[in-house]
Amino acid sequence: MSKRTEIKQILSSHSDLVGQELTVMGWVRAFRANRFIALNDGTSMKTLQVVVDFENMDENLLKQVGFHACIKATGQLVESQGAGQAVELQANEIEILGACNLDEYPMQPKAQSLEFMREKAHFRMRTNTFSSVFRIRHGIAYAVHKYFNDNGYFYMHTPIVTGSDAEGAGEMFRVSTLDPANPPRTEEGDVDYSQDFFGKATNLTVSGQLQAEIGALALGKVYTFGPTFRAENSNTSRHLAEFWMIEPEVAFYDIYDDMDLAEDFCKYLINFILDNYSDELEFLDQRIQNMEKNMPKEQRRPMSLTETLRFVVDNDFERITYTEAVNILRNSKPYKKGRFEYDVEWGKDLQAEHERFLVEKKFKKPVIVRDYPASIKAFYMRLNDEQENVPGKTVAAMDVLFPGIGEVIGGSQREERHDVLVSRMKDMDVPEEELWWYLELRKFGGAPHAGFGLGFERMVQFITGMGNIRDVIAFPRTPGSAEF
Ligand code: 4AD
Ligand code: MG
Repeated sequence: MSKRTEIKQILSSHSDLVGQELTVMGWVRAFRANRFIALNDGTSMKTLQVVVDFENMDENLLKQVGFHACIKATGQLVESQGAGQAVELQANEIEILGACNLDEYPMQPKAQSLEFMREKAHFRMRTNTFSSVFRIRHGIAYAVHKYFNDNGYFYMHTPIVTGSDAEGAGEMFRVSTLDPANPPRTEEGDVDYSQDFFGKATNLTVSGQLQAEIGALALGKVYTFGPTFRAENSNTSRHLAEFWMIEPEVAFYDIYDDMDLAEDFCKYLINFILDNYSDELEFLDQRIQNMEKNMPKEQRRPMSLTETLRFVVDNDFERITYTEAVNILRNSKPYKKGRFEYDVEWGKDLQAEHERFLVEKKFKKPVIVRDYPASIKAFYMRLNDEQENVPGKTVAAMDVLFPGIGEVIGGSQREERHDVLVSRMKDMDVPEEELWWYLELRKFGGAPHAGFGLGFERMVQFITGMGNIRDVIAFPRTPGSAEF
């Protein structure tokens, strides 16, 4: 194909290009008065105005220039006479690369619901909303690598297929090549996974953390960034069965270093998008304001999207212990008036409604809760010494809670003491045989270390202001749904 000039480049350096003959390719957003094409090629939010000399063009060809048709246009770039754009392309040649029959095409040049477009995931990226979301998603992914590279971390690829349950929660997808209708059996009648592909039972990973710990105890500072899978039957706006997680793991870090890293990292990602994707943010901000226009005031967001992001980067995150959180909640108005659906009691996990109260009502900013009860947290978290005025055993775990989203990060200092870890694993029925290597890391040259996992889509949700996590991943996998 002949060389094309990208529209982003044309619009950002048009003074150098005016007068030149250029070729552009992209999808038609609108065609006005048989003369003005708004063309978008995905490189940015903006469209290039392509002006057609309709009297000298084939009528049949022009009929095909319509919403989301893909075209190639060649002509001279000139300064625009009209308002609204600095330059336009005076086309002397138009070629239809892909016609788009609107009688059959599901997308239409009018507002369509996010739910509808979710079912048309093969076309939704052509809209302003989704193209903005996915450009920002890319930007955050790039910023993740930049942050860690600039700070001396090594990117580590941990396995997708594993034999272990890193979270010990049993929410795993089995990986097997055995015939499900007629699997080989052991003498006891159980499925005999020793005859399976890997010679043992395997599953898709729920987290790369345990392997990242191996990296941290050799390279010092590592991170993973990969897909993780959870077979939890959670049909919410914040859960996916397949999501991407970023997991830094650092030797010689304690829980406090870990919280500092988490806060600095979150702020870096948000700042990066504020600095580099302002057009997209502005569009998404406007979208939210249009949507909320007809809502009662108390249901609208208290701040615009950009204001929210700036607020988060400009303020320290609040840091409290789980025990303090429980006391705050039990003394809160909604608790006393019986407005929480779930009870608040030391030893029980905080529910989304409790987290939202702390973040959105009490502190009105991100909150890091630490030192959770040992009984509700994973086996690998480091046991704290007994603390005064704390009813039970706690672990050095922390969750970062964001407005509108809830938990974006879960992390901890890891149990580096071999004997303590063994006894925790026994208490929690975590199989020692499976994690022999994890235990050996504590026996030979171990060190204190800590890390966390950031749910990538939850961060994309926060930064783009999208209400449903299914709208920030190109092809969401959720219970009952694996289309595309
Ligand atoms: O809190 P989680 O389960 O922690 C871990 O997996 C640790 N191994 C992390 C570590 O210490 N290295 O998950 C981490 C984050 C959560 O805070 C949340 O943001 C996200 O992953 N997450 C999900 N995101 C989308 N859909 C789901 N089903 C998610 N489950 C967790
Ligand atoms: Mg968690």
